[in-house]
Amino acid sequence: MTNTIAITSGKGGVGKTTIAVNVALSLAMQNKETLLLDADLGMANAHILLGINPKFSLEDFVTGNSSLDKVITTTKNNLKFVSGGNAINNLLNLSDLERHKIIKSFNDLKKKPEYMLIDVGAGAEASSMTFLASADKVIVVITGEPTSFIDAYTLIKTSFLDYKINNFGIIINMALSPLQAKLNFDKFQSITHKFLDVNLKYVGQIPNSQKVKNSIISRTALVSSRSNDLETKAFSEISSKLLSIESNNTGSIKFFDN
Ligand SMILES: Nc1ncnc2c1ncn2[C@@H]1O[C@H](COP(=O)(O)OP(=O)(O)OP(=O)(O)O)[C@@H](O)[C@H]1O
Ligand SMILES: [Mg+2]
Repeated sequence: MTNTIAITSGKGGVGKTTIAVNVALSLAMQNKETLLLDADLGMANAHILLGINPKFSLEDFVTGNSSLDKVITTTKNNLKFVSGGNAINNLLNLSDLERHKIIKSFNDLKKKPEYMLIDVGAGAEASSMTFLASADKVIVVITGEPTSFIDAYTLIKTSFLDYKINNFGIIINMALSPLQAKLNFDKFQSITHKFLDVNLKYVGQIPNSQKVKNSIISRTALVSSRSNDLETKAFSEISSKLLSIESNNTGSIKFFDN
């Protein structure tokens, strides 16, 4: 069985890709078969954080140049990776049919992963929402800033009202302390519960950290250094909580039949 987990946010630049890459690597380092899909089409950059330059991307699959198998690159620690590609315009303007083709193709893989993490673009555009609704679990990344709260609330509202997604995992990124992060979550939950009948689960926090910034500049994912620091522990803790997020029953097509 494959657990598909989409990572999204209301506002851009809150750390989705950083979290998707490090949590995926953390799972792979625990010998869990893991596939990371960069579905931030048009803005795909997970390969930059991984420090790799894959030969093929989803674009090759969509245009029929290549099978999905060929588009899957094996990176460090046996993490499997599907790049969203660089050729901006082609994938930004995918039709519904093309998005469905991508989603349905994963079920044909001979070797299905245990986890599939999906880095989804920010906001509630149709392109992102299709991927969210097709995942089992949805994580929304927020920071302590009011703008991030408001945009995350809007995204959750659209996901719930238009796509029947009612369970969300929440990660607080760039946290000042674990306590502050939990308080931020409690505040966000109480605002959301006033207006929407959704279930939010606190999945964890990542500290605001120069080490995280440096890892992006050096294109070496932080967890791959296997150090015992707070940041590595925070990513690993999140990886161990993924299965406790409730799955959604949206009625949309899913990546895997299971
Ligand atoms: N925990 C953190 N501590 C400090 N800086 C961070 C942290 N997480 C992310 N950043 C900074 O935020 C920037 C944006 O991160 P990232 O690219 O992961 O966000 P994103 O949500 O994927 O953005 P986009 O919406 O553009 O896809 C990074 O370049 C990094 O400098
Ligand atoms: Mg990103």
